[in-house]
Amino acid sequence: MQQVSFILNGDHVEAWVAGHEMLLDVLRKNFGLTGAKEGCGMGECGACTVIVDGLSIDSCLFPVMEVDGRRVETVEGLTSSGGVMHPVQQAFLEHGASQCGFCTPGMVMSAKAFIDDQQQSGEKATEEVIKHEMAGNLCRCTGYYQIIEAVKSLIDE
Ligand code: FES
Ligand code: FES
Repeated sequence: MQQVSFILNGDHVEAWVAGHEMLLDVLRKNFGLTGAKEGCGMGECGACTVIVDGLSIDSCLFPVMEVDGRRVETVEGLTSSGGVMHPVQQAFLEHGASQCGFCTPGMVMSAKAFIDDQQQSGEKATEEVIKHEMAGNLCRCTGYYQIIEAVKSLIDE
């Protein structure tokens, strides 16, 4: 076993892990953070998406030792302690962008990384760019229209 330490949703955390473990499994088993889901386990569906140092990644394929000393954000870290939803979550709610909800944590984290990046760059993405950026997250329920509208509403603010 090896020790890994990193910032998780703003808190410094440590865990003893097997070197081959993936971040998704450690988040779920060691920290009880079950928002990120295992859909395919092969980097194809995006249900496991979390943010590492500002970039969205597939945690099912991300070796946990690679987050040592880095900053990890999961969907659980988005809601304030007072229960107020993050603007991305609020936009998904208002646009009906979630049905069964399985893909939603990953969608929300991909959208957050994208919106943060947009805000930093000062650029205003087109709908095509939004679709391209969200293409790594699959949804079998919504048909994507509501999800793209939710992300667009955040860009248009
Ligand atoms: S579970 Fe990680 S991409 Fe599908
Ligand atoms: S809401 Fe069901 S998979 Fe996206």
